[in-house]
Amino acid sequence: MSDYKFIAGDKKWWRQAVVYQIYPRSFADLNGDGIGDLAGMIDRVTYLKSLSIDAVWLSPFYPSELADGGYDVADYRNVDPRIGTLEEFDKLIEELHKVEIRVFVDIVPNHSSDQHEWFQAALKAGRGSAERERYIFHDGIGENGDIRPSELVSHFGPTGWTRVTEPDGTPGQWYLHLFAPEQPDFNWDNQEVRDDFIKTLRFWSDRGVDGFRIDVAHALTKDFSDGLPARNTMDIDPTKPDGSDPLFDRDEVHEIYREWRKVFNEYDPPRVAVAEASAPAHRLGAYASEETLGQAFNFDLLHADWNTKRFKHLISNSMKRAEKSGSSNTWVLSNHDVVRHPTRYGLPDKTDLVKWYISEGKSAPLDAKQGIDRARASTMLILALPGSTYLYQGEEIGLFEVADTPREAMQDPQWFRNPGKARSRDGCRIPLPWTTTGSSFGFGPGGSHLPMPADFGKYSVEANEADTNSVLNLYRTAIAMRRGLQCHEEINFIFNRNRSVLHFARPNGWQSFTNFGKSPVKLPKGKVLLSSQPLVGSQVPGETTVWLQA
Ligand code: GLC
Ligand code: CA
Repeated sequence: MSDYKFIAGDKKWWRQAVVYQIYPRSFADLNGDGIGDLAGMIDRVTYLKSLSIDAVWLSPFYPSELADGGYDVADYRNVDPRIGTLEEFDKLIEELHKVEIRVFVDIVPNHSSDQHEWFQAALKAGRGSAERERYIFHDGIGENGDIRPSELVSHFGPTGWTRVTEPDGTPGQWYLHLFAPEQPDFNWDNQEVRDDFIKTLRFWSDRGVDGFRIDVAHALTKDFSDGLPARNTMDIDPTKPDGSDPLFDRDEVHEIYREWRKVFNEYDPPRVAVAEASAPAHRLGAYASEETLGQAFNFDLLHADWNTKRFKHLISNSMKRAEKSGSSNTWVLSNHDVVRHPTRYGLPDKTDLVKWYISEGKSAPLDAKQGIDRARASTMLILALPGSTYLYQGEEIGLFEVADTPREAMQDPQWFRNPGKARSRDGCRIPLPWTTTGSSFGFGPGGSHLPMPADFGKYSVEANEADTNSVLNLYRTAIAMRRGLQCHEEINFIFNRNRSVLHFARPNGWQSFTNFGKSPVKLPKGKVLLSSQPLVGSQVPGETTVWLQA
């Protein structure tokens, strides 16, 4: 257990933090089995420190059969032996805390793995048992119950119901899963389920974990009093954006988070949380209130084209929402579920990313320079905004999406459960290249669990470090500088006649000026602090962000 003191008293640290997401199996592999591990993270603490980040968020590292990249958890209070041990976890926390980096872990409360002891017990105990009550079991329709209970389609397709074999060997009941069949949904009306997650939150909090990222936070409570849902979409029912959708964003979900908040507040400093919730904008604040989870991801920029008006609109909306909920903004350009942003920005506007992926990147031309220029500019823009910035591993070295991974190497259920219809998220989960050469470019002494492209070395940390203008050096400088510039959570937009310009100031005079266009524009007055591209005299080149001090 760690006894760090550095954040005692600072209860607001999370409001304007830079949080770096680690996808554990693809970060660094110390023992050479091809799978990233805790020892690999411990080995790279100095690297993490060099980024000047405030926190890391670890995607699931728990025991898992990896039906969904670890989001199928078999034991919530343990470490996958392929990734490490609890002792190594404690060591990692200690080492990170020593260098003042806090730690978030991922909590996956909507569903467990089908390998979880509770689900295994539910299978064995049979119909009507207390064990089955922890999940959502129903009888099938028809004389023999062999028609699924409803036409629900799962997120990974095609159906949201899977039939089990009863202990006596006969075909039996069906259980609900919003995701893969290996991810049975919990029944959140069940008190044991509620108690067990409280236990899990305490377990990690007691080990020194500072915060939690809550997976599919909008889906836990369900209400089937009007019948079992039959629909072919995972999105909230657009006719029910008011908490009455039977599957998602129900008001009762916040009872759970109010309970969790009490647990968070038992600690000093209080533990924090961020919701991954897909809900209508006007309802996100309920997840981000100080009585519930405190913060919620804003994913607007994941889907936004590179466009001044669009960015300005989304930023203003986010500012208003944050003010209303009392929380702070969150900014996200990439994560383990979406196409990496240099690729999004390098493809023509409105490119169908699923088609592009399925065509192995051939359906639309990628302008890599444009992608990286825009990525550099957008990163500086979001870092200048009030609120927390969530970075995804690999973006700091300028990684692009990998669309041509050999199909037989794919791991993502979204891919192989929807043949020819969905993209594989493996494209943003390829292990990190650390060195310019070597069989897995320094990821580890062996191979890598997903194949790495032959040219990956040019994006490596080593290659980035050798180039003063690299993406990595920009991230390091910008994040370190941001620490000194942080101030009240306000911005004032500054009018510019050029419609390609997004210019704003923070209360302490720190200004961010982005030229979204291709042609250079005039640099405003002020002392230049940093620029995402070299300035040309008094001109800001196209697709560039400049920070200034008035
Ligand atoms: C979240 C995760 C995603 C996972 C899903 C099911 O959306 O980010 O990776 O597949 O939940 O747990
Ligand atoms: Ca390993």
